[in-house]
Amino acid sequence: MKVCVDMGASSTRYLEAGEIEPGEFPNDYKIVPLDHRIRDKTSENQYENLDLTIERINVEDSQNLFNEEDKNFPVRLMIGEMGRRDGGRMRQPHSGTPKHLQKINWYSALTAVALKTLSRAETEIPKKETTVDLYLAFPPAEVLKEGFRDFIEEVLLGDFRVTFHTLNRKVEMTINSVTAKEESLLAVAAYLSNLDGTLTERGEEFAQGRTTVLSIDIGASTTNLSLVKANSNRESGSYTISIGGNQVRNRLGKHITAAHAFTPTDETLADAAKTGFVENGKDMVDVSKELIKAKQEVADSLEYEIQKYFESVDGLNSSAVQIALVSGGGSMPSTYKGEQTTEPLAVYLRQVMDENPAWNTDVDFFSEKSEIYPRYANLMGLKLTAMRDSRRG
Ligand SMILES: Nc1ncnc2c1ncn2[C@@H]1O[C@H](COP(=O)(O)OP(=O)(O)OP(=O)(O)O)[C@@H](O)[C@H]1O
Ligand SMILES: [Mg+2]
Repeated sequence: MKVCVDMGASSTRYLEAGEIEPGEFPNDYKIVPLDHRIRDKTSENQYENLDLTIERINVEDSQNLFNEEDKNFPVRLMIGEMGRRDGGRMRQPHSGTPKHLQKINWYSALTAVALKTLSRAETEIPKKETTVDLYLAFPPAEVLKEGFRDFIEEVLLGDFRVTFHTLNRKVEMTINSVTAKEESLLAVAAYLSNLDGTLTERGEEFAQGRTTVLSIDIGASTTNLSLVKANSNRESGSYTISIGGNQVRNRLGKHITAAHAFTPTDETLADAAKTGFVENGKDMVDVSKELIKAKQEVADSLEYEIQKYFESVDGLNSSAVQIALVSGGGSMPSTYKGEQTTEPLAVYLRQVMDENPAWNTDVDFFSEKSEIYPRYANLMGLKLTAMRDSRRG
C-alpha cells in the first residue's frame, strides 16, 4: 500500500493513496523507557493519543547503522493525552533543526504507517504481509540537499514491528520505498489539480508556462516560500521564514493582557487564536478585536520578510508573481460556535500586499474556493503523486 504522511510541527496527517479522509495525531510526545508501566486508556480518541513501541526486526548487523549510544530503535513513545497524563515534559518538533534530522519525524511517519497497517488488518481477511511505499513531505531545501535521499532510506527502509500498548495490538510492516517531495510544491500541485488528478483551468495555464506561483505555506512555527513556474528550475526559489501561526497566538496573548487585564493559560490562548474567544474562569470573553490586531501585525511582518527575500535574490522579481497561494493552518479562519469571528491570516496578508505597489499579485488560499482543507494541502499533493505512481504501475 502507498501511505502519504505530512509531519507538521502541530500534528502529523496521513492517508493511504485513494482515501479521502486523512487521519491525524498530535506531534507532542515523550520518549519513555521500554518497560515503562502501561497506563489505562484515555477517554480521548485511541488512535490519536497513543502509547507505542517501534522496533526494527529482521535486521542484519550491517544494517545497524548508528553508533551504539545513539540507538534509534527500539523506542517507546507516548503521544498526545497519553503522554501529558503520564506527566513530565512533552516535546515537539523544533523549527530550528532540519526536519529529516529529527527522530520524532521518523517515528511519526512510522506511527502513521502502523496505524494504516492496523486499520487494514481490521478490515482485510486473510491479512497479507504489509509492504509499504511511503510518501513524505519535507522542506524543499532539505529534499534538494546531497545525501538526503540516502539518509532517509537508511533510517526508514526495512522491517518494523509496532506494539500499541493501550490498544493491545501489534503490527508488522515492511517499508519498501520512500519518496520525498517538496512541501510547498505539493500545495501548488494540489491547487492546480482537481481531486481526480486532472488539471484545473489555472493548472492548464500554469502547465503552459504562463503563470508563476508563489507558494506561502504558513505553519505553526514557520512559513515556507517557494516560487514555482512550470518547466523551470525551482531550486532558486525556496526559503523559510521563522514566522507562523504561533506568532499570532503570542501576540494575541499580549493584546489580551493589555485590554482585559488577565493572562490566559497556554491552552486557552491556543484555542483563542482559533476561535476569537478566550476562557477566563467561567466566562468566555470576546477577543476577536485583539485577534484581528495580532493577525494584522503578523501579516505585516510576513509581507516585510517576503519582500526582503525577493530583494535579496538576484533575478527574483515580485512583480512577476501572478498568484500567491497561501496554505497551512495559518490560513484558516477563526470560528466560534460555527460562526466566523475573524478572517484567515491570508486575508490580512492580501490586504498588505494589495497596498504595496511592488506586488501585482492575486492572493488566493485554499479555504476560499477549494474542497481542500488548508492544513491538508501538502498531504493532498502527496496523494496526487502517489496515485500518479500507481497509474504508472
Ligand atoms: N482554525 C484556525 N484558526 C486560526 N489558526 C489556526 C486554526 N487552526 C490551526 N491554526 C494555526 O495554524 C498553525 C498550525 O498550522 P499547520 O497545521 O499547517 O502547521 P504544521 O504543518 O503543523 O506546522 P509547520 O508547517 O510549521 O511544521 C498553528 O499555529 C495553529 O494555531
Ligand atoms: Mg506544514
